[in-house]
Formats: sequence, structure tokens, C-alpha cells
Amino acid sequence: MLESVETIIRELVEEVDFPQATQLFSKLSGGKRLRARLILTIAPAHPDAARLGAIVELIHAASLLHDDVIDDAMLRRGVESVNATHGSKVAIMLGDILYSKAFSALTAFDPEIARTISQSVTQLSVGEMMDVEMGRAFNLDRDLYLKMLYLKTATLIESCAYCAALLEGKDAHVYGLYGKNLGLAFQIVDDILDIIGNEETLGKPALNDFVEGKTTLPYMDLYDVLDSSDQEKLMGCHGRVLEASEKQWLSNAMSVHGIIARSYARAQELCDEALSVIGDEAALRAIITSVIQRSH
Ligand code: FPP
Ligand code: MG
Repeated sequence: MLESVETIIRELVEEVDFPQATQLFSKLSGGKRLRARLILTIAPAHPDAARLGAIVELIHAASLLHDDVIDDAMLRRGVESVNATHGSKVAIMLGDILYSKAFSALTAFDPEIARTISQSVTQLSVGEMMDVEMGRAFNLDRDLYLKMLYLKTATLIESCAYCAALLEGKDAHVYGLYGKNLGLAFQIVDDILDIIGNEETLGKPALNDFVEGKTTLPYMDLYDVLDSSDQEKLMGCHGRVLEASEKQWLSNAMSVHGIIARSYARAQELCDEALSVIGDEAALRAIITSVIQRSH
């Protein structure tokens, strides 16, 4: 079924009828297609599920094109970013082409589905803006961080689950709640992988969140357990390129204080909550496992 999503994605991009866009898009790595997989899993029998999955994946791809410009990221999924190879203007315009095309296709869906997906794209844009603002200083406000994370990552995943349930005639609120918790857990695992992963597995530089100014949950947890001189050292590392010895100190401190295990436990809690609302659906359990156990 995921092949049909890939086919529809290609068709939608070709319909734009602009060879440069088709060519640039063909060089992007598709990624895990989590959002499309989720839709197909919740609405396996619905003839429009693959099309909705393709639309959401195009929106997601557009958001990452813009995000890489915003974050000045040179690498995405192991491939040089479009802003690295063609400059920011091209990356932004390609993103604009993809998401506007996706929105045109979305208008053919039931208005509640079109509204739900578009509202979550507004929310992910608000989340991205909060992320940028919060990156200006070391942040210890967990609630603010979780709100940003919900907006930036979880809302679109929540909306995918909600809309897929609408398509399939299932209880949309229950599946939406599953998607929300899955999305939050997904981003917490992302925060963890930035710390424990390496460039080869991640397809982007490791230990980069803090350099970009993002005080993710593991950094907040670490701050709480450090003594005051190490707290100052940690804050001094925020928002700048680190020396190898500083990276080593950070990784070591995370491991000595069991910070990574604590973050995984938090992600697992969210996953347990996600599963508790939908009961025992093996395919949705498998998606949860793939999110927790992933290495990139
Ligand atoms: C990745 O975050 C970014 C997002 C999940 C959302 C980005 C959203 C926008 C740029 C809003 C614009 C939306 C559209 C549709 C054009 P990250 O930087 O924490 O993750 P990364 O390490 O994978 O880059
Ligand atoms: Mg980024």
C-alpha cells in the first residue's frame, strides 16, 4: 500500500508541470513515511487513504525544506539539503510548490478532513516559530517546551490519525489521542537520538540540537541534576559549536546521570497512554514499537 502512496506523490508533483520541481523532488529522500503509514494502518480499506497519506507526506516534505533553511541545516536524511545544494531561495520555493499542491489536492476531501489537516499545518508553523524564538536562550520551561513540541510535531500526526479514523468511520477522537501521544513520543525519541546517535545513522550531524539552541528535554533533565558549577558549564555550551572535549563531557554527563534512560521512559509512558486508548491493535502497536526502537 505504501507503494501507492509513492505513486500518488510522484503524480502530484508531476501535475505541477515544472521539470525543475520534479527533478529536485526526485533527489529528496522520502524518509520513514510515518504519517502515511499511520493513515493506511487506521483506514486500510478506504480508497482515498493512500491519497491522503501522499498529501500529508508532501506537506511534511515542504515543512522540512523550510525547516532546513531556518535551521541552516546542510544535511537531511543523509543527503545534502536543497538549501545546501541550490540555496535557500530554491528550497523555500520548492517547499511552497509542494505544500500548495498538497492543499489543492486536499480540497477534494470532506471539509472536516481538509480543515483538520490545514489547521494542523498552521499549528506546526506556530510551533516552528516558537522553536526559533525559544532557541535564543537556554530554556528551562518544560511546559513551554512540550507545547512547542506538540505544535511542531505532534499536531500533524494527531490529525493524520484523526482523519484516517474519520475516513474509516472509527472514533476519530480516540485515534486522534493515540496520534497525539505517538507524535510527542516520536519527538522525544528524536531528541534522544540527537544525543546518542551518530551522523551516519542519523543522516544529519549528531549533538546538534543544543548547538542550534534547542534545549530539549534531556538537557533540561540534565540541568536539574548538575551542581551549580556544572549547570553553568552546561549553559555555556548552549547555542554554539562545541569542542570535542565539551561533546565528550556532555555525553558523559548524560550517561552518568541516567538522563537518556529517563527520556526513553517518558517516551514509553506516552506510548503506553497511546495504546491504552486504542486497545490492542497489533498494527498500531507495531508503529509505536518502530518509533521507540528506531535509530534514525
Ligand atoms: C523539524 O524540526 C521541523 C518540523 C517538524 C516542522 C517545520 C515546520 C515549518 C517550517 C512550518 C512551515 C510549514 C510548511 C508546510 C511549509 P527539527 O528542526 O527539530 O528537526 P530536524 O532535526 O529533523 O531538522
Ligand atoms: Mg531542523
